[in-house]
Amino acid sequence: MIKITETSLRDGHQSLIATRLTTDEILPILSEMDKAGFHSMEVWGGATFDTCLRYLNEDPWERLRKIRANVKNTKLQMLSRGQNILGYKNYPDDIVERFLKNAIFEGIDIVRVFDALNDIRNLKKSIEVIKKEGAHCQCAISYTISPVHTTEYYLNLIKNFEDVGADSICIKDMSGILLPYEAYNLVKAIKGVTDLPLEFHTHCTSGVAQMAMLKAIEAGIDIVDTAISPLSSGTSQPATESLAFTLQGTEHDPQLNVDSLNNAAEYFRNIIKKYQDDGTYNIKVLMTEPNTLQYQIPGGMLSNLLYQMKSLNASDKYDAVLAEVPKVREDLGYPPLVTPMSQMVGAQAVFNVISGARYNIIPTEIKNYVKGLYGKPAAPIDEKIKEKIIGNEEVITVRPADLLSDEYDKLKAEIGDLAKSEQDVLSYALFPQVAKTYFEKRS
Ligand code: CO
Repeated sequence: MIKITETSLRDGHQSLIATRLTTDEILPILSEMDKAGFHSMEVWGGATFDTCLRYLNEDPWERLRKIRANVKNTKLQMLSRGQNILGYKNYPDDIVERFLKNAIFEGIDIVRVFDALNDIRNLKKSIEVIKKEGAHCQCAISYTISPVHTTEYYLNLIKNFEDVGADSICIKDMSGILLPYEAYNLVKAIKGVTDLPLEFHTHCTSGVAQMAMLKAIEAGIDIVDTAISPLSSGTSQPATESLAFTLQGTEHDPQLNVDSLNNAAEYFRNIIKKYQDDGTYNIKVLMTEPNTLQYQIPGGMLSNLLYQMKSLNASDKYDAVLAEVPKVREDLGYPPLVTPMSQMVGAQAVFNVISGARYNIIPTEIKNYVKGLYGKPAAPIDEKIKEKIIGNEEVITVRPADLLSDEYDKLKAEIGDLAKSEQDVLSYALFPQVAKTYFEKRS
């Protein structure tokens, strides 16, 4: 029997409608979803947290509490970027610790942690806290394709995950580039070296996700991520109901409650009408992007680059930038193109093409990356490129967060009376300006 992680309340609406579902829109359907028989529901992550504060004038902690109060049987799951938690930079260990502690206290059962570079040092603190707090620690592989990201590379990573005490493992294919037969082989290979439960997370962006998911199931995957139909497909996950029908009567049947699925689907079909009418739900997110497979560039990054080139009046150089992206990636040791690496590699490729010479202009983030401040790349960075980017500045060899000192007390004093709780201080730690504005409106 395959288990299902339902993603509509995190990745589903994040992928299709810019994470705009409000808590009031989520709450009425939770008890119905709770009856569906899901293994877990993914409900919290970076964009859901940020959007609550930034656009919805909501406290993300309050949302989590309310969801927990309405979901009595199904496990609640969150996605965390390791040392970046739900933000875009490394936070000191005390913030990581307090944040995860609070999230687990408020009802998170499963924490999926990943690092954009698959640098296990960036996950160490999170894993330690998740385990100490008694939650389930799922370590995710940031899946990418490159000459160094071989099956051996991934099997080695699995071994490291096992060593640090992972409770389960996820193949996280954020770009939807894992092809069906590759998925089959990778799952078989991983199942050959570990007994830990294995989960598959992908996106329909390039049009292969449903096929890849079925092959992963045939190869013995334990859990898959799907979204209820109105919040599925396109840049989101495959539809929960369609997969349930596909597997009906087989040994993989997830045995979901069809009535609950239908009721939830009908509910969300009505909810998202508003987002179709106001343009938040743009048909573009539903268009299949096979170019993602050709260039191995995530769909979101392709459209960002096109937009950037247009705004620079350099649309004619778009193809040159697309050709430059894999070169920059090679120069930098093949980082997976996931946030924040996708933006950084994209920006460097644009500069390399429009400034007339490669690495004429270098963003600070790229310099920091080469200095090792994001972690260790999968392949060493070429010495010549390194010198071009940071001259003879030193590259750190310690865990990046070892260079950060504790910050909680300082931040607590800084935000003062505007913060009413430890959770407020943590919101402020992650999104300082946005949280402060929210607190001011609230009081
Ligand atoms: Co995703």
